[in-house]
Order: sequence, then structure tokens, then C-alpha cells
Amino acid sequence: MSQLFTPFTLRGLTIRNRTVIAPMCQYTSQHGFANDWHFVHLGRFALGGFGLVILEATGVTPEARISYGDLGLWDDEHIAPLAHIVQFLKAEGSATGIQLAHAGRKAATPIAWRHGFDETEAEKAEYAYETWIPEAPSAERHSDNPAFQMPVELDKAGIHRLVQSFADAARRADQAGFDTVEIHGAHGYLINQFLSPLANHRTDEYGGSRENRMRFALEVTEAVRAAWPEEKPLLMRLSVTDGSPGGWSIDDTIALSLELKSLGVDMIHCSSGGFDGYSLKSAPLYQVQLSKAVRAAGIPTIAVGLIDDPYDAERILESGEADLVAFARTALEDPNWAIHARHILEGGGDAYQLWPKQARNRIRDRDRVLGIRQ
Ligand SMILES: Cc1cc2nc3c(=O)[nH]c(=O)nc-3n(C[C@H](O)[C@H](O)[C@H](O)COP(=O)(O)O)c2cc1C
Repeated sequence: MSQLFTPFTLRGLTIRNRTVIAPMCQYTSQHGFANDWHFVHLGRFALGGFGLVILEATGVTPEARISYGDLGLWDDEHIAPLAHIVQFLKAEGSATGIQLAHAGRKAATPIAWRHGFDETEAEKAEYAYETWIPEAPSAERHSDNPAFQMPVELDKAGIHRLVQSFADAARRADQAGFDTVEIHGAHGYLINQFLSPLANHRTDEYGGSRENRMRFALEVTEAVRAAWPEEKPLLMRLSVTDGSPGGWSIDDTIALSLELKSLGVDMIHCSSGGFDGYSLKSAPLYQVQLSKAVRAAGIPTIAVGLIDDPYDAERILESGEADLVAFARTALEDPNWAIHARHILEGGGDAYQLWPKQARNRIRDRDRVLGIRQ
């Protein structure tokens, strides 16, 4: 058996294999609600054999959303449609997670595939268009790009309110039946904005020294861990490096991760970037080195970023560069990637078990006639 298709246990959760669907914003919600699109989009990955499916960045408040089309978990009303998806994914063998997010100064931006805010009045009504003033550690725009607005600086009451919003969203995620939550601390969004000297110019106890800049991330973690059941694992996604001059570094991530671990975070999902001036070159496996560095410090990790070849995924685990391997675009391109990868690594035999029962024997018969995977 391959490592990639060996089950993995974190606290009370056993994942059927070590493949993860990385969170992927769909910008297809109205008022934060999951709908048929999310059900089908996510359902494909469970049918496709992935071990853990993590739902997209989900706003912990309405203002936390990157766009008006993001999923939300700021209201108990959001729970039921998410629970419907969770039940299906679990019934098809995948573990389930959801990414709890606040976009900070990168909130209220246009839907990614539109050309700015080009909605007609009719579309605004149909898609539940909304806009609002973002909030951030400091009153500084993300960039000169007109998609980004000038945010208001959060005061301490605002910070405490947001810590509570993360905890409340975690409680709702538990009620929806999720096996894990991932706190979004990456990609230049709110938590990353507090961490990074590129976005945090506060002079109170939430800014200045690294210890102060880490305070918001640690308070959110503590509050989420307290609201999240002890037997369920807690993940944190970080930009291990901003990859920009004067930004958050790998050493900073290691220091933070050790603190996160002591607060009950079980695994770091190792991404990068989110600010202007990002210099890491996008290439196959380009972020695996980041996962390797964090894992070497004694913290379990997920590697992500242009991982496509099953042999590469297997090697990442064998060499101890990560504990789990995550996929975004690769899974969009082939929602059955996990099943196909298992056939490539293991041939026929047990690998057929990863197909849904409705397809399994039919595909085995076809393969026999074609003389493949035997
Ligand atoms: C359509 C799409 C939406 C994404 N949305 C999110 C998101 O909601 N949260 C997040 O942390 N990363 C998001 N990402 C980044 C992915 O999770 C992943 O880290 C990145 O795409 C690199 O993995 P890949 O090379 O397998 O695509 C998104 C990526 C894509 C392609």
C-alpha cells in the first residue's frame, strides 16, 4: 500500500487517506448560504476519493467576506445547507472541514471572474450584491488597485468582537457536523494582516513586536479551540512567508506554530503570499519546502501548491516533508484525481474500492476488457 492511501488519524478523526481538497472560494453564495452549486462542486471530490474536503474561505461576519458571493457562518441559519453537504461528503467517505475566514482590508472586492463591479441592476438583485467598508489592523489600503478600498482601523472592542465571531462560527461549524475547522491565517487576509509588518502599523499591544503582532492570531485560536470539541482536530492555514521584502518569514511562522501547537492547533496548512511584491516563483511543488521547514520544527503539516504527479505526492510523504498533501486546481481539473492516483501508485486490486460502489465493478469490468490496471 502507498503512504498516500494509508489512513491518517488526528485526535478523534481518522481520514481514509492523505489527500486533501484545499479551500476554494466559489463566489457563488447569496447572503452567505451554501446552495446546489456547492453541493455538486464539493460532492465530486468525495465521489473522487479524496480524504478530507475543506470548504472555501467562509466569512465569520458579513464584512469578513472577500466578496458578496462568499459562504458565511455568521448566522445559525447558515448551518442547515452546510449540514446537508457535510452529510453527503461523509456518507461518501470523505472527512469534512471548513475554512473560517476574515478578509480584513481585502474584503468587499469584486467577484473574481467578473470585470470589476460590472453587475447590472438586475444582476445585483439576483446575486444579492452588497458592498461595505472593510476593517483592518491599520487604515491602509492593500494596494493601489481600485478593487481594494481604504479600510477603517479596528479598535480593541472591534478586535474582541471578531475573536468572538471566529468562536461563534466554529460552534456553528460543529453543529453542521464538520470534522475539522481551518482558521485562515494566510494570503494577506485579516490574521495575516495582523501578523505581517507590511500591514500592521498599530502602536497598541496588537502591533509592533512579533509577539504583539501574533496576539490576534493566538486569541482567535484560543477562542476557537474553546468553542471546538476536544476530540475534533483544529487546522491553521498560514502564509509561511509573505515572500515580500520586510514581510513575515519562515522563522516567524515556526515561532508562531509552536505557540499555536501549545494552544491546541493540530496541523499547519503551509501556503505563502498575499501581499504585493511576492517573489516566490510558481512552479511544480514550489511550496513543499515551506511545509518541510515547518514540519522539521516538530509541527504536523499539509503541503499544497502545484502538486499534480501522484509519485511526487507519495515522495513528499515518504521524505517527511508533510503529513497530508492538498490539491486545488489539480482537483478542479480532475475531481477523480485521488482514485486515479491510487490506481497509478497501487495498480488494480484494492484501489478499485475507492470508486463509489455504484461505479466500482463496472469500471473493473471495463478495465479487464481494456487490459489496464490489472
Ligand atoms: C478557485 C480557487 C479558489 C481558492 N480559494 C481559496 C480559499 O478560499 N482559501 C484559501 O486559503 N485558498 C484558496 N485558494 C488557494 C488554494 O487553496 C491553493 O492553496 C492554491 O490554489 C495552490 O494549490 P494548487 O496548485 O493545487 O491549485 C484558491 C485557489 C483556487 C484555484
